[in-house]
Amino acid sequence: MTTDVSDPNELDQRVFPPTARRDPETGELRLGVVSASTLISQYGSPLYVLDEDVARARARTIRVALEAEAERIGTTATVYYAGKALLCIDVARWMSEEGLAVDVASGGELAVALAAGVDPSRIGFHGNNKSEQEIGRAVGAGVGTIVIDSEIETERVAAAARAAGIRQRVRLRVNSGVHASTHDYLATAHEDQKFGQPLSDAPRLVAAILAHDSLEFVGLHCHIGSQIFAADGFRESARRLMAVYPELARLAGHSIPELNLGGGFGIAYTSAQAEDVPALADVARELADMVADGAREFEVPVPHLAFEPGRIVIGPAGVTLYTVGTTKPVPLAGSDAAAPADLGHSERLYVSVDGGMSDNARPALYGADYQVRIANRTSGADPALVRVVGKHCEAGDIVVHRDVLPGDVRAGDTLVVAATGAYCWSLASNYNHLPRPPIVAVSGRGARLIVHGETEDDLLAKNVSWRPEGDPPTA
Ligand SMILES: Cc1ncc(COP(=O)(O)O)c(C=O)c1O
Repeated sequence: MTTDVSDPNELDQRVFPPTARRDPETGELRLGVVSASTLISQYGSPLYVLDEDVARARARTIRVALEAEAERIGTTATVYYAGKALLCIDVARWMSEEGLAVDVASGGELAVALAAGVDPSRIGFHGNNKSEQEIGRAVGAGVGTIVIDSEIETERVAAAARAAGIRQRVRLRVNSGVHASTHDYLATAHEDQKFGQPLSDAPRLVAAILAHDSLEFVGLHCHIGSQIFAADGFRESARRLMAVYPELARLAGHSIPELNLGGGFGIAYTSAQAEDVPALADVARELADMVADGAREFEVPVPHLAFEPGRIVIGPAGVTLYTVGTTKPVPLAGSDAAAPADLGHSERLYVSVDGGMSDNARPALYGADYQVRIANRTSGADPALVRVVGKHCEAGDIVVHRDVLPGDVRAGDTLVVAATGAYCWSLASNYNHLPRPPIVAVSGRGARLIVHGETEDDLLAKNVSWRPEGDPPTA
C-alpha cells in the first residue's frame, strides 16, 4: 500500500538505489550517471538495470558486518552470495571481488560461477535433486562444500568423491521445523516440505556421512524462509540446530566446526515496508548473540558461521525500466475486487507496460508488491491510484498492484520499478513468446551491457523447422 506517499514523483531512497536521482533541470531519472531515456534508447525496453556500485557496496557492507559480529563472539564467518537471486558472470565476479563466496543451486549456476573465475573452493553447491552428473562436475571442479539434502545424496556424493580420489566437505541440510516469513515465524516439530531432512533424523544421517572416508562433515545447514524482517525465527532455528551439536560431536569424536544459517534477510520493496526493515548491523548482532547463547547453553564451542544472503545483496541494486503502451481508467464503485481502501478512490488507472509477468513473476507467484515512478519526467498532476500491468494473456499479469502516479501518466512514458534486482531476471520466462530483456550495469563511470537480451529470432531458432528469412528450406 503506497498511496500514503504524498509526492508521486518522489524517489524514496529506502526503496530505490541511493544513486537514483532526478536531474534537477529536466526531472528525468538518472541511474548511475546515465538518464533513463538514454538507457532505453541504447538498450531497448523493458530493461533490467543493476547499479554495480550499489551491489558491490551492499555485498561488502553485509560481509563486513557479519564477519565483525562473528569475530566479536570469538569465531569467523563465510558469507555466500545466493546466486539464485541473480547470477550472471559479471555479478558473480563482483561478489567474489567483494570477498563473498558463491552459493549455486544447479549445474547451470555452477557453470556461471566457474566461468566468472570464482575460486571453486569458495563455491557451495545446493539443491534437493542434484543429478549424478552435477555432483560429479562439482566434485571434479573442486567445489568447497556440497550441501547434502537427502539420504540418497550421501551415497552419491561419497561415490563421486571416492572416484575423484578426494575428501569432499559436506553439510547436511535439515529442517528445523521453523518457518519464517516477513513478520512471523511458525515453529513445528516437522516441516512438510521438499528441502532438507527432519532435524530428528540428523544423528542417523550424520553417522551415515561419517561412515564414508571420502566425506568430511562440517556442519548443519538450515534456511528458514525468505523476506524475513525479524530475528526470532533465526534464533529459534539456530537454538534447535545447536541443541543436537553435542550428540553430533560425540558421533564425530570432535566438535562440529560450522553452522550455516542460510539466507532470507528481507528488503523494502515499498515505502510502507521500509518502516519495518531492520538495520543490517542490528540483525548481524542478534544473529551472533544467539549463536553465542546457543554455544553456552549446549556447552559446545562457538562454530564457524556461514550465511547465504541473496535478495538483500542484489535486490535493492536493481530496477526495471518499462515503456507505457496504454492507460485505462476503471471505475471502482461497485467493484468486487477492489480493497476497501481503494474504494476511497472513484477509479483505478490501469497502466499497461511492455513487459510483465515474464520479466517479473513475483507478483503473480507470491502476490509481491513493488513501487513505481515515472522515470522520464516529473509532473505536477494530481496523484492517481494506479495498477501497473503487463502485456500477457493473464488477468494476474500485474507488475505493481497498487501505487500512485501523477494522473497524467501516458503512453510513451518510461516507468521505473524499484528493487527488482533479485528473483526477477532469474525467474524470467518467455511466456507469450516475449524475449527476455537484457541486463545493463550502471555505475559512476557509465553504463554497459552485461547480459544480452533475447530477440524474436532467438526464440524462433528453437523451432527445428524454422529457417531465418532468406535461407532456403531444407528437404
Ligand atoms: C538454501 C538457500 N539459501 C539462500 C537463499 C537465499 O535467500 P534470500 O535471497 O531470501 O536471501 C535461499 C532462497 O531460497 C535458499 O533456498
